[in-house]
Amino acid sequence: MILIAADLAFLLLLAVFWGIAGVRIGRAAGLGNQAGRAAYRGRGQLALQGCGFIAALGKIVTLALLGGRDSRFVQDTLPVHLVLLAIPLAAVVILTIPKLWRIVRSVQKELRSGAAEGRGGAIFDAKTVLPVQAAGWGAALDLIVTILFPEDSANAGGLAVILIAYAVIVGAQWAIWRRRSRPNDRSGSSPARRRSLRIVVAAIVVVVGISGWFTLSSQASKLPDRMNMMSGRMDYGGGPEAEMTSVGGHGEMPGMMNDSSSSSGFVRTVSVTDLTGPRTGEPDERFTLTAEKKQVKLRSGEVIDAWTFNGQLPGPELRVKQGDLVEVTLVNKDIDEGVTLHWHGLDVPNAEDGVAGLTQDAVMPGQTFTYRFVAEQAGSYWYHSHQQSSEQVQKGLFGPLIVEPEAGRPFGEQDITVMDPTYVTLDGSETNWLNPIDRRKIEPGTPVRLRLYNTGNWPKNFSVSGAKFKVDAIDGTEVNDPGELENVRLELAAGGRYDVTFTMPSAPVYVATDPASGLLLSPNGEGDIPKIADVSAFDPLSYGSPASTPFGPNTKFNREFTMVFDNKLGFYDGKFERLFTINGKVFPDTPMLMVKEGDLVKTTFVNRSLVPHPMHLHGHHMLVLSRNGKPSAGSPWWTDTLNVALGDSYEVAFAADNPGLWMDHCHNLDHAAIGMTLHLAYEGVTSPFEVGHQTQNRPE
Ligand code: C2O
Ligand code: CU
Repeated sequence: MILIAADLAFLLLLAVFWGIAGVRIGRAAGLGNQAGRAAYRGRGQLALQGCGFIAALGKIVTLALLGGRDSRFVQDTLPVHLVLLAIPLAAVVILTIPKLWRIVRSVQKELRSGAAEGRGGAIFDAKTVLPVQAAGWGAALDLIVTILFPEDSANAGGLAVILIAYAVIVGAQWAIWRRRSRPNDRSGSSPARRRSLRIVVAAIVVVVGISGWFTLSSQASKLPDRMNMMSGRMDYGGGPEAEMTSVGGHGEMPGMMNDSSSSSGFVRTVSVTDLTGPRTGEPDERFTLTAEKKQVKLRSGEVIDAWTFNGQLPGPELRVKQGDLVEVTLVNKDIDEGVTLHWHGLDVPNAEDGVAGLTQDAVMPGQTFTYRFVAEQAGSYWYHSHQQSSEQVQKGLFGPLIVEPEAGRPFGEQDITVMDPTYVTLDGSETNWLNPIDRRKIEPGTPVRLRLYNTGNWPKNFSVSGAKFKVDAIDGTEVNDPGELENVRLELAAGGRYDVTFTMPSAPVYVATDPASGLLLSPNGEGDIPKIADVSAFDPLSYGSPASTPFGPNTKFNREFTMVFDNKLGFYDGKFERLFTINGKVFPDTPMLMVKEGDLVKTTFVNRSLVPHPMHLHGHHMLVLSRNGKPSAGSPWWTDTLNVALGDSYEVAFAADNPGLWMDHCHNLDHAAIGMTLHLAYEGVTSPFEVGHQTQNRPE
């Protein structure tokens, strides 16, 4: 985060210093041969350029540090920086600076000796002026590319466009210089008219060109009417490729016969619809969740139009025991767009995963769907609709799913779920459901467990003040030997969960995302909010003690995937958006990550974009191996939703032990909705479901 910010700041400084230097030297040159003024400007020039070179040094240092984290932070943008920054700056050093020195010195000598002004021919020539102006334009263009189109500098086509644009700008600058320096350029009225005509024609060409490009790219980005989510490109992560008989069109995944790497000689194909939980047997727990539109009154008294499960916001807490067979019937009363239920973080069989268009069709009004699974892992999970999820989760279609352990782990006597949704109210403003403060009475000495959820987009900071506490679980998985914490800020990934435990002290404890909305626990239900002091951020990478894991940094992985995130301006499904790309692509052009059951898989995330991306893999838990090259040093850090901050790289690993077709996407659900998503696919698994405009399925 700091490095990316520093990198941008230095680039901004480069643009400012070299921009001003370019303007000033251009103006000084325009003044002709007035040596005295030139001397003044020459000195200012040298000072400005000095600052410009310091900024360049800063940029080089931050790039080197980022490159030390992961070379992918640097390598793709190097050609752009080379042409837009390094070459013009080198030209300044070679051409401009010696000349400037000479000017400054000779003018000073002239002034001392009282010589007349303006002797000695043209002191500013194109060779002196142009490099400075080119450096200014280069830095400005580099800044624009870095903020708006970083992804384009990584491919040849984008690079060519950037270079042509730069050449045109520098060429125009040169032409202006030539015109200015030509003596007695007195243009009559007819050349002026001709010139304005030329400008009008050029403007028309540019406008037509740009709008043509817009229309074409907009059309090209339209999603198809129907498509099978498994019909895209495949990435085998360096592992063996399945032999496939190709099948034209969409629909069925290619059937896989004679897979040479399989001892039985061929890979059986299986449909996701067959990868169910136990279909028979009396369930231990049975729930019905009815999706319906409802006006809900918040604690603040505000009434909002919500989409709810069972009329509640958040939906009812589903609490089960580890090992239970759970049956949940989803009823859609009146959500016209359809709904599904996804069990976020719980590794259920594929057919129960609830992704519209991948593992089932969206459940339309009047329809029902029954999910059955055994809750294998204990911990804090949640459920939400995975149809149009970017909209439906925000409107309220989510709730907590808590799996109590069979035995062992001590649980809080007071077990409190704190979901942090910010709801959008009728007038479009955001409101927090813990506003005004929720006060609860808890006896001193009581063991307390807080289940903190971030159900919104973007990372969210929770503070716990007034008590020493432990982070007992991350994304449902217990931390090994958690240490006591105080005054730390808990930053939760969008979609992530932390379980916090402590013994209730005799003074109030306050849990909050901001000072105005939170939960106040105190012996008598009264009392003031203890001071919120968070001095440092909680870091799971070094929290708790190491313990054995089924795989680790030295494992020989069967497949290794890399996902590099960038942002760029472009079209998605016909709309102009700020896109977030994975390896330069958005869905459906993102590849499927292909694995085989039993594989050990390593994935590297590199976030070169300018915002954080919480990456969520369905059906599996990822073990964090390292961040920015630093190995995980504390408790094994298992996660299902990992916030990859800007400028960070992570290596994670998982075991391919849950066959199916699984979403792997950014849990800033607005990002997923514009294509920041791909799929993990097990060889031989097919899906009969489709997405696209002609279907009812809109998973994101
Ligand atoms: Cu919580 Cu794919 O989602
Ligand atoms: Cu994202």
